[in-house]
Amino acid sequence: MKTLLVLLAAVAAASAVRISDCDSTATVDFNNIQITGCFKNKRKCFFPKGQDASMSLPFTPHHEVTAVKAKVTAFIGVIPIPFSLPNSDGCVNSSLQCPMPAGQKGVYTSSLPIRKEYPPISLTVRWELLDQNNNKLVCIKFPVQVKN
Ligand SMILES: *[C@@H]1O[C@H](CO)[C@@H](O)[C@H](O)[C@H]1NC(C)=O
Repeated sequence: MKTLLVLLAAVAAASAVRISDCDSTATVDFNNIQITGCFKNKRKCFFPKGQDASMSLPFTPHHEVTAVKAKVTAFIGVIPIPFSLPNSDGCVNSSLQCPMPAGQKGVYTSSLPIRKEYPPISLTVRWELLDQNNNKLVCIKFPVQVKN
């Protein structure tokens, strides 16, 4: 019974934020992820066209990290579409200090330009951070509605 309650509480917390984990190996501080247009009481994040969506993502790696590469994929239904970031180097202009020692929290920041020509559709964004060996450090997913 106690286990069930803990489980239900965890599910409730996760569904309020609507940001899900996709096998991160680092510890992601989900309660403190901030994404423009993502509100805890909404089912989706709203990204207005012509603006930048910015993100602040705190995580703690469990090994030393000397390079960080960001990879963003948009899923329209089940179809993955790679999104090219203006700057995919997580160690440059992204708030992180590289190398990151094992066990020390860092905050990755980035922003995505939401171009005017994007269609006003619903999609799922998968944001991954890979380490120097192309291994997954962080993987999060969240639902987005592109707005006119
Ligand atoms: C990082 O920021 C500097 C200063 O704003 C800029 O000149 C440089 O092009 C940026 N580098 C990348 C990879 O975005």
